[in-house]
Amino acid sequence: MSTTTTTTPLPATSKSLTFLAPATPPHVISTPLAAPAASELVVKVHAAAINPVDIQLWNSALLGWLAGKKEKGIGRDYSGTVVAVGAGVKGWKEGDEVFGLISRPTGEGTFSEYVHPIIGKDPIAKKPTCWTHEMAAAVPLVVLTAFSCLDWLPADKKKNGFGRVVVAGASGGVGMWCVQLAKKLYDCNVTGICSAKNADFVRQMGADEIVDYTSEFVSQALLENLPAGRQYDLYIDCVGGTELFADLHALLHPQAAYVTIVGDKTSRTAMGGPLTYLYTPAQVLRFLKGLLWGPRYANVLLYAKSELLEQVAGLAERGEVEVVVQEVVRGLLLEEEGGSEEAWKRVYEFMEGGRVRGKIVVAIE
Ligand SMILES: NC(=O)c1ccc[n+]([C@@H]2O[C@H](COP(=O)([O-])OP(=O)(O)OC[C@H]3O[C@@H](n4cnc5c(N)ncnc54)[C@H](OP(=O)(O)O)[C@@H]3O)[C@@H](O)[C@H]2O)c1
Repeated sequence: MSTTTTTTPLPATSKSLTFLAPATPPHVISTPLAAPAASELVVKVHAAAINPVDIQLWNSALLGWLAGKKEKGIGRDYSGTVVAVGAGVKGWKEGDEVFGLISRPTGEGTFSEYVHPIIGKDPIAKKPTCWTHEMAAAVPLVVLTAFSCLDWLPADKKKNGFGRVVVAGASGGVGMWCVQLAKKLYDCNVTGICSAKNADFVRQMGADEIVDYTSEFVSQALLENLPAGRQYDLYIDCVGGTELFADLHALLHPQAAYVTIVGDKTSRTAMGGPLTYLYTPAQVLRFLKGLLWGPRYANVLLYAKSELLEQVAGLAERGEVEVVVQEVVRGLLLEEEGGSEEAWKRVYEFMEGGRVRGKIVVAIE
């Protein structure tokens, strides 16, 4: 008995960019294209996005060990068209334009002609018609991380608005969504920390105040910007490091929170997030102290929820949020003339450099 509902036959093979051992040069492979399992879709990918975590996973001995000897895919974000639907899947049909995240680190990569999202596991939503595939591919991982960070806003500020939020790394992929959602969903006053060259961009995302980390003492500038008698409600760190902790109690009130998506480390190529609790006792101590006396401290992971992608798609349809793509890189699956090597080098350098405004997207041609 067939487990697939598809009217158009699938191609026999799919090309992907993969690697074998950690930190070895990726290469293009062609593998048989599997029909969807009962809970899967098959999506033809039109665009994918690169995130720092893609470089971190490629570099990671732990992933290398967990995934074993198989070819490992690169890329988590994608946007594309549904071309086959597993027999147990409800609510999706061939031809649907979708965007989503393959959230399993050892799962297939999205730098691939076709992917197999698992419904109920991998976040997925209908692509808003006002976004191109290149725009939609730039959204899932970073917006789901921003939702997770903003969840740490004190409950009264979530309900009534007027919270004060600081976003460090406000011009980057996650930061620009933290700024936009803090304004649109929670009506907060937002301070973006960025370099002077990105100040106008961060203001355009909705920031009320800017602190230029390249020319100002950040803590001092943040304190000077506070109205008398007020402190911040949430500090979102998208950069890493420990500089702010000396002034933590002056900046944040006891019910406020400091959330980081990176941790104390600052390397761009080493894995961040909650995993760093395992080898950074200072973070564990800070978490416990925050729990007892405040302000709360947390190193958080993105929320892998389809309904949050649906929510942001709704905001996009109403023209309430913007997607910013700095560059679309082409040729990633092009074996001839070193096309894929060149494209990989370009996306790698963008991620390692850490100077991207918005997102870098990869066209899957
Ligand atoms: N825990 C999780 O679930 C999770 C999820 C997503 C990402 N992350 C991690 O979060 C970090 C950020 O990710 P991302 O995708 O937002 O990165 P990104 O887009 O590559 O960030 C680049 C931006 O960071 C800014 N920046 C660099 N140093 C800064 C500093 N000291 N102060 C303020 N801004 C600075 C740069 O602006 P300038 O050019 O002006 O410096 C640039 O616009 C990465 O380490 C990533 O691995 C974790």
